[in-house]
Amino acid sequence: MNVFATRKLPEEVVEKLEQYVRYKEWHSAEQPMTKEQLLEAVKDAEGIISVLSDPLDAEVLAAAPNLKVISQLAVGFNNIDVEEATKRGIRVTNTPDVLTNATADLTFALLLAAARKLSAASQEVREGNWQSWSLLQLAGKELSGATIGILGFGRIGQAVARRAKGFDMDVIYWNRSKKPEAEQTIGATYHELEDVLKQADFLVIMLPFAPELKYLIGKEELALMKSDAILVNTARGGLVDEQALYEALKNGRLGAAGLDVFEQEPVPTDHPLLTLPNVEVAPHIGSSTIATRMEMADLTVRNLLAVLQNKEPETPVN
Ligand code: DGY
Repeated sequence: MNVFATRKLPEEVVEKLEQYVRYKEWHSAEQPMTKEQLLEAVKDAEGIISVLSDPLDAEVLAAAPNLKVISQLAVGFNNIDVEEATKRGIRVTNTPDVLTNATADLTFALLLAAARKLSAASQEVREGNWQSWSLLQLAGKELSGATIGILGFGRIGQAVARRAKGFDMDVIYWNRSKKPEAEQTIGATYHELEDVLKQADFLVIMLPFAPELKYLIGKEELALMKSDAILVNTARGGLVDEQALYEALKNGRLGAAGLDVFEQEPVPTDHPLLTLPNVEVAPHIGSSTIATRMEMADLTVRNLLAVLQNKEPETPVN
């Protein structure tokens, strides 16, 4: 069986794969493949290990006539044309669950960093601008007693809610379907989207991307929010209209933002959002702890091998 990975993977993962399949991988762990390179590389593949920046669209799938499985090394899979894969009898798998806690932690890290102006604080110390203790120096926003609004109440949304409870926050959420059991165990309440936007002191976006959710948070939605609210997005960049977000943050219609994801990744360094002091940023590292990334890789390999051995994968998408 020929398997191709679109990124260089750690040695122990490769060793595992090589016990079962003829394995080839892209030479870089960071540099993405171009569409042309992908089209060429997948020709003989029966299995592909993919990441979220690989455009596995109908054209790429057509270029891989022997393909049986795409094992995505991520929970999100909006880079894959799943409908087309299903039509072609190609199984798609992903890595839910194993990254829930790491992603919720990073979400909270960005929330806290934005609330307490951590980048500005660090800069002040490093650049020698720390003159003395002063009463309102870098004074931030309190979490305790504040309302956190979570858009998307799946595994990661709920994990964020549990963390918020530990910070004595009131948790409200919006989701396509209500989650009465989670509401009870966590102590969260469902509200319509508009109400969540109006009430939230912190708005956290935890939805998977779908075309109908593009710019779910745009100019009108931002206008409903409190002017000192903090928005955190660790889900997918396309869920937020970045131009509208920039204008709201710049014009004092929104307090701050914490962003791990962008519509274009890597985000161009001249992106307007990067000029704002009230924006904390990270390079899409929500799930990036060593333990979690290795668990994601393990699950990706198990899913891939299961399909190639005609077994049911642990976490199928289709
Ligand atoms: C995912 O898994 O979808 C994250 O965005 C990357 O780890």
